[in-house]
Amino acid sequence: MCGIVAYIGHRQACPIILKGLKRLEYRGYDSAGVALINSDSLNIYKKKGKVSELEKFLEGKDLSSTIGMGHTRWATHGEPNDRNAHPHYSNSKGIAIIHNGIIENYDSLKKDLQMRGHTFHSDTDSEVFIHLIEDVYENNHCSLEEAVRIALTMVVGAYAIVIMSKDHPNQLIAARKGSPLVIGVGIDEFFLASDATPIIEYTNEVVYLNDFEVAVIKDNKLSIKNIEDKTTTPYIQKLDMELDSIEKGGYTHFMLKEIFEQPRSITDCLRGRVISAQGHLALGGIRQYANKLVNADRIIILACGTSWHSGLVAEYLFEEYTRIPVEVEYASEFRYRNPIVREGDVVIAISQSGETADTLAAIELAKSKGAIIFGVCNVVGSSIARTSHEGAYLHAGPEIGVASTKAFTGQVTVLAMMAIIVANKKGIITESKYQELLVDLENIPKKIEKALLLNDSIKVVAKEFKDAKNFLYLGRGFNFPVALEGALKLKEISYIHAEGYPAAEMKHGPIALIDEEMPVVVIALQDSSYEKIVSNIQEVRARRGRVIAIVSEGDTQIKEMAEFVIEVPKISEALSPLLSVIPLQLLAYHIAVMRGCNVDQPRNLAKSVTVE
Ligand code: G6P
Repeated sequence: MCGIVAYIGHRQACPIILKGLKRLEYRGYDSAGVALINSDSLNIYKKKGKVSELEKFLEGKDLSSTIGMGHTRWATHGEPNDRNAHPHYSNSKGIAIIHNGIIENYDSLKKDLQMRGHTFHSDTDSEVFIHLIEDVYENNHCSLEEAVRIALTMVVGAYAIVIMSKDHPNQLIAARKGSPLVIGVGIDEFFLASDATPIIEYTNEVVYLNDFEVAVIKDNKLSIKNIEDKTTTPYIQKLDMELDSIEKGGYTHFMLKEIFEQPRSITDCLRGRVISAQGHLALGGIRQYANKLVNADRIIILACGTSWHSGLVAEYLFEEYTRIPVEVEYASEFRYRNPIVREGDVVIAISQSGETADTLAAIELAKSKGAIIFGVCNVVGSSIARTSHEGAYLHAGPEIGVASTKAFTGQVTVLAMMAIIVANKKGIITESKYQELLVDLENIPKKIEKALLLNDSIKVVAKEFKDAKNFLYLGRGFNFPVALEGALKLKEISYIHAEGYPAAEMKHGPIALIDEEMPVVVIALQDSSYEKIVSNIQEVRARRGRVIAIVSEGDTQIKEMAEFVIEVPKISEALSPLLSVIPLQLLAYHIAVMRGCNVDQPRNLAKSVTVE
């Protein structure tokens, strides 16, 4: 969702900001803009559409300025157009804001400001925010920084903001609550951004702003205060990210790069954690509260989107190996009921970005009810990682494609390690089963590599079905969540309607849709539900549905029934989602490319959903 980039220092700000906005394109957006100070005026340039549209609009303009800020907007209040794009001016046009988040009480604030003579030029809540700041500034005769702090106590909602003022051309003010903001610290220069990707090529020293903190960068100095005006010392951390990890590296799309990166990302995820020859399995981030997990009466998993699907795989894993009951909750539903969290319950929160607003809010609710939170995140230093009591990172590297791929397999790998650790500590699995699982984990990267060799045969399937109007995905047991994930991948990037179902549930509804036009992707591995799923395939065939079966290597029975058969390497049932999902990622990718869709930035979707 909305992306923020700002710069203050000795270089020209505009090129840095535009490049940074491009780095943030993956988050999803529909308009873009920049604010610069030159010739004693605060100038805003903004345009509906991509950053490239903005660049065209900027051609020939005087953009010289060593301070500036830019924004990519994902519309919430008001349609995507030039007017609603950020930055927004204050009433006097002397101050400007860029904002990520939602101000919930904007309507009453706006009416109040209108009564006091403010005129608004957009439909956004963000414009109200900057008018409010100016109103406080003028009426309280205080510093701008003070006015920002006071205004923050008056707004309800979530925000990451950056503010520039014509009268303070050497100053940027930033604040956050609920939406991410990272400050890059260079030599006599500072960079602000929604995540580290626009910063990494300039500096690897960053400060993650915390909720309720206000940062002021002035005369080459960064100072941070909390909303109560108490100074805090900026905690500078080293970024562990390489520039090439956020570039396409020869691939046509980030999504394809990320699919093909999975042998590497899983190797990184396992590194130092699993050494089967020594019977070693450990997650360094889970120590102090490890016993809480081992002795949990119940595990509640909170997540959204693809992360919710890996949570479903974890439900099967934990129940199978640890015998701890698991509930997998959509974070957005959990937070708005009155959920029961008892002593003895632990929460696992799963999030690639670590910034998903609903997941964050659900965690806060669970925490307020006394739960211990284990975070499973990819983005290091993200809000969820920081708010969790303990947790484990995926080490998958930045995921830029909106459709999540390597994060899913990374999440399942981490969750599998967690389940196996608990099972071993509880003595539920035998030593030989434990050893077998460690070996299987270590073999995953090689087997994914083999599964990726299916790429060409999947292109053939994609060509055959690229014009389908609907798809059905079926799976059972550990592979039921993979059916959901396969369907999600397809609809996200190809805009084909697709549904995932537990195969046996097909009889209770979706079977009515099956005819000779309906492609049905069935994950039919040789596992404990093999015979059952073979029957489900027969049921589809009997209604002339077109079956694309994902089978175990060497399967001969299903070859007789399915129109297309894709063989994936064999692995223990519990880890099989890590392999069966690969052809489904590739299928969605190739269909989307063949339909001419924007694979990495599908319409309406955002990578990091920082509003609820
Ligand atoms: C968005 C993304 C999905 C992601 C979901 C949850 O919808 O497009 O790919 O699965 O958010 O995000 P998280 O970062 O919490 O895993």
